[in-house]
Formats: sequence, C-alpha cells, structure tokens
Amino acid sequence: MDFKTQVAGSAGLAGVAADALLVLVASAAVPEGLDDPLAEMLAAAAKEGDFAFKAGQTLYAYRLAGVKSSRVVFAHVGDGTNKPLRKAIAASLALLKDSGAARLAVTLAGAAEWTAAQAETLATAVAEATYLYRATKPSAAAPSKLVLTSVVCAKAEVAAVAAGLKRGEAIAAGTALARECANRPGNVCTPSYLAEQAQRLGKEHGLKVEILERKDCEKLGMGSFLAVAQGSEEPLKFIVARWNGGAKGDAPIVLVGKGITFDTGGISIKPSGEMDEMKFDMGGAASVLGTLKAVALLKAKVNLIGVIPACENMPSGRAVKPGDVVTSLSGQTIEVLNTDAEGRLILCDALTYVERFKPAVTVDIATLTGACVIALGHHRSGLFSPDDALAAELLTAGEQAGDPAWRMPLDEEYDEALKSNFADMGNVGGRAGGAVTAAKFLQRYTAKQRWAHLDIAGTAWKSGAAKGATGRPVPLLTHFVLARTK
Ligand code: BES
Ligand code: MN
Ligand code: ZN
Repeated sequence: MDFKTQVAGSAGLAGVAADALLVLVASAAVPEGLDDPLAEMLAAAAKEGDFAFKAGQTLYAYRLAGVKSSRVVFAHVGDGTNKPLRKAIAASLALLKDSGAARLAVTLAGAAEWTAAQAETLATAVAEATYLYRATKPSAAAPSKLVLTSVVCAKAEVAAVAAGLKRGEAIAAGTALARECANRPGNVCTPSYLAEQAQRLGKEHGLKVEILERKDCEKLGMGSFLAVAQGSEEPLKFIVARWNGGAKGDAPIVLVGKGITFDTGGISIKPSGEMDEMKFDMGGAASVLGTLKAVALLKAKVNLIGVIPACENMPSGRAVKPGDVVTSLSGQTIEVLNTDAEGRLILCDALTYVERFKPAVTVDIATLTGACVIALGHHRSGLFSPDDALAAELLTAGEQAGDPAWRMPLDEEYDEALKSNFADMGNVGGRAGGAVTAAKFLQRYTAKQRWAHLDIAGTAWKSGAAKGATGRPVPLLTHFVLARTK
C-alpha cells in the first residue's frame, strides 16, 4: 500500500486530492470544523432522514460542489472501537469497490483522535475489502483499483497513525499470504508447495528454513506423522522456519501449524459433499507462514519458530487402517481408531519435536474438529490451554486484532474418552465434546511445555457463495507475538 499521512484538520478536507474521500464520523451530530459543503450535506441528510449519527450508517455523494475528491462517503463508526470501525470501513468500501476510484483518502471527523489501533484497523480493512483470488482463475473480475493513498490527520496524530498503518500493513500482507496458500487447490498447494513457500519467505525476509524429508522423519521416529502420510503419493514435508529477531539466548515462541493439504479422511473416508473444502485443512500451516511474514516485515525483536508437518490424508493400499497401532515420537503408542482424526496424529509428533527448542511458549493452530464448528460457529476460534496466563494473552490478542477466540475446557474427565485396550491411547474419543477430546489428545504431548491450542476449523475459511480462506488467525497470532516483544 502507498500511504501518505497528510496533515490537515477537517477544515482542509474539501481540498484533499483523491478519487474518493472517506469521512469516518465519530460524533452524535455534524462534526465541528468540517468544511462547509461537507457539513451542509451531512446536516441536510440528517434532517431528511438519510443519515443518522449511529454505528454503520453510510452516505455516498458524487461530485459534491466545492469538494475536490469526486466521491465522498460518510460512515459512522459508533464509539470508534475496533468492531464498529471495521464494519463502517467495510460498508464504505463495498460502496466504492466497483467504482472507478483508485486513490482513497480517509479521515476521522468529530471529536475522536486517530489512535494507532484505529489506523491498523483501517489498513487491514482496506486489504480485506480489496483482496481477490486469481491464481487459478485469471479470468476473475479485475482486482479493485482502490488503494489507500492518504490518511488525513492532525500533526499530533501522525506518529500514531504511521505506526498503526505499518502494523496493519504487515498483518494484511501476512493474512494475504495465508489466504493465497489456503485458497490454492490441493493439486497446487501440496506439501512441497508449502515447503517452497517457506523457503521463499526465508529468502525474502531472512528466515532460516529447514525442510525434513520422509527419511529424516523416519530416523527421528515420527511414527504417527508418517502413518498419516503413508497413504499418499505426495512426498511429506516437515517444515521448520525461524525468525531470529531476538537476542541469541531468548527462548523462542513456537507456532505449530497443521498442514494437511487435503483431507479425504483416509480409509475412514469422508462423505463426498463439500469434501473440496478439505483443501483448507492446511489453514493452520498457512497462518504460521503468514504470521512469520508479518513478524519479519515488522522486524520484530523476537525469536519465532514456525513448524509445519505437511502431508495429504489419502486412502490407498498403503494407507493406515482403523485399528493400526503406531508409535509416536514421544514413545507413546496410539491406536488409530479413525483415520479421519489425522490432524492430532501429525501434530503430536511436531509438538514433541519442538521440545528441542526449549520454547517460551508453544501454540498449535489447526483446523482440527468439526465439533469445534458446532460449538462456536464461524465467529470465534476455539482456544484450549491449561495455562491461564497464556490463555489470557491469546484472548486479548484476538480481541485487539478483531480476530477473536473463546476459551474451552480441558478438565481431566474428558481424557478418559481416549482410553484404548491396545495402545497408550486411541486417537478419537467419540462424538461428545469432540473438540475437547482432540485437545486432550494434544495435551498428552505437551506436558513439558507452556502450551495452547487454537482450533480454527470454523474460522479459517468461509463456505457458500463467498467460499474462501480468511487468513485467520494471522491477526491474532501477530498481535500475540508482538505483545511478547515489549
Ligand atoms: N479436518 C477435519 C476437521 C474439520 C471438519 C474441519 C470439517 C472443518 C470442517 C479433521 O481432520 C477431521 O476430520 N476431524 C474429525 C474428527 C473425528 C473423526 C473424531 C471430525 O471433526 O469429524
Ligand atoms: Mn480428518
Ligand atoms: Zn483434517
């Protein structure tokens, strides 16, 4: 994006050179000091019942006499906090998206001063509104020309706006990377493709990237990960990417992302309806890459390691079968009762593997269970952690980023469902509390770490007409990492 923070009060707005001027209104009446043509129009519209001074209200004007920008959109931001602000920007940009406008200028009018958080929301909301997937659909409508070129603010606000825009731009770039990876179909976004993306990220941003192959995983003894991968012709990849922005001895934050590039269910095959959406089953992996990108763009002073076990879950003559018992890297044995509960099988070995990094904290991110979608729907990701302080950090990060999570339980009683007569545990615990028993399974591999698990099955992508990856929870994770650098 091409921002320039222009310094002007609301009295200079009529002269702002842009194709579209977005006036975010934060007051209960016509903002004081607004240029006459703008103020007069807003007052008239309010009088006629065309604009109310409450959250979500918008008003569009074209070629308003005395105003240089040919399009003006007013949008009320409620109390100016993240959620109504984001909604107001989204509604405004929906009005402008298919217009001829390219250069967008934005200002906040009426009492409120720009904060860094608001500028960040602006940057991410503009990116969200203008994102278009084209990789395998070059004929898709031309991408929106709309670019945020200026934020009009008072001199005292410039530093906060610049800092917020920078952060928002980095989060937007990370989110876009996650969306681009996850939207690619399973025949393009393979484990090898994810490994290439990590390597590219390494070259572009100075990350150290290491790719373990099947032989390496065999040598280590990742029997659980290998069991999932064995049914597929696509070579597995175990990706380790490090951002060393912190001091040498600083314990790293470790992010582990589920990288199933297609989940058929394996021998416990899924029904065919909507199975195409299982290309999104690498959403956790994509969010790890996206967060690494955002953190590297901001040159954050932190050590961050992203780990991605990547493979397909396929049925075949070599595939793992229900009842097979495998030995995980931790030495614990697992009876694979359902081959469709594959996410936990690849994550458990990755979670054991990362012990070697002596992490400050480890967070895994996975499109893990349909049960989490039933519990929380598509708005909040499921958060599981036995560590209250870590859970609080993640919840706060989600609220601040507009990418919310909700804490779920981990009582020991749920663990009983994993009992097996033939191994240390089964890989499923029945339908009841499915998101919790999945988390309990992972907890058996994280006893030595400060650990949290994000189940993003309901938030990583949208179904229906707007089918596509969301890039979540890159905003949450980036906020979480940045908050730990202070
Ligand atoms: N990737 C799926 C989870 C999923 C399903 C996410 C639907 C989003 C929408 C996962 O690998 C899976 O298949 N989980 C099973 C677990 C079950 C066999 C215990 C599920 O949720 O049905
Ligand atoms: Mn599955
Ligand atoms: Zn899966």
